[in-house]
Amino acid sequence: QKRIFSGIQPTGAIHLGNYLGAISQWVKLQNNNEEVVLSIVDLHSMTLRHDPKQLSENILHMTATLLGCGINPDKVTLFQQSTVPEHTQLCWCLSCICTMPRLAHLPQYKEKSKDLKDIPLGLFIYPVLQAADILAYKATHVPVGEDQVQQIQLAQDLARMFNSRFGNTFPEPHTLITGTEFARLRSLRDPQKKMSKSDPDPKSRICMTDNPDEIVRNIKKAVTDFTSEVTYDLEKRPGVSNLISIHSFVTNKSIEEICLEAENMNTGKYKLMVAEAVVSYLKPIQDQIQQYYSDPGYLMQVLQDGKVKARNICSSNLEEVEYKLGLRINI
Ligand code: TYM
Repeated sequence: QKRIFSGIQPTGAIHLGNYLGAISQWVKLQNNNEEVVLSIVDLHSMTLRHDPKQLSENILHMTATLLGCGINPDKVTLFQQSTVPEHTQLCWCLSCICTMPRLAHLPQYKEKSKDLKDIPLGLFIYPVLQAADILAYKATHVPVGEDQVQQIQLAQDLARMFNSRFGNTFPEPHTLITGTEFARLRSLRDPQKKMSKSDPDPKSRICMTDNPDEIVRNIKKAVTDFTSEVTYDLEKRPGVSNLISIHSFVTNKSIEEICLEAENMNTGKYKLMVAEAVVSYLKPIQDQIQQYYSDPGYLMQVLQDGKVKARNICSSNLEEVEYKLGLRINI
């Protein structure tokens, strides 16, 4: 049985990388009538110093954002991670089979901890909680952007280790990645880097909630190169190719079609065309997000219903884990 699980951190506004790499995949899978479970992973958002008031606002905002992007709570299970205690329970069980060196090698941990004097334990075991998120649902597929691949490999390894020690329990979850250019959308300021929420320069990204002026400004300032033609070559011309990828997504046109259309344009003029296309693509989504966000009662109800559905799936899985581990006494 196929079951899809994914998660997103409630850290402020999402950017086009999150949308193209992950959320739009989720909407497609939902519309193909797959079984999709989506978690707003609030516990993952407190591994570095956080502002509690901001976090609770962000949880509601993320709910509105996902709905505005087309997630339908009648079709998928959409819930807040911390309301389903099975995640942290399973995290503990998995942390007893996961080793410290295995976690210390993970690139996201290295990146996030490198400037910290005192590293919180939660940051270190973050990927174990992520594995628990996935395995608690016995998920078979995990649609994410490229930056998550190594963390999902940990979930695969832990599933395998658990199964071999305690008997077959978890399917090994497969990673689902969209076409290469969307799986790692690049920063507008440095096309060698991915577009990221944590980049201090807001001009490096397009957020779903940016207004038209901000979108035009950021795309106009996007770093390209010294060639003025518009051609696609992700390796040699990552900056302009990144813009072409975004353009292709929001217009639903192929890369060839776009390059043909922009044949007589220089990159400066082309950027304005991309910006215009992004602004008009985002407008209806932004309106929807705004509308959902203005109804917190409805959002709370969605999360409440989602929690019940989520627990319905994972509580029996946790029971099975507890039996296998000898935590439940059989007489
Ligand atoms: P998060 O919240 O950082 O990102 C959410 C999703 O957006 C994708 N993404 C990108 N895709 C393409 N290009 C980019 N520049 C880009 N930036 C971000 C991410 O790959 C992700 O799919 N650890 C996870 C949350 C998580 C999770 C899970 C995911 C917790 N438990 C279980 C899957 C399954 C994270 O921080 O994603």
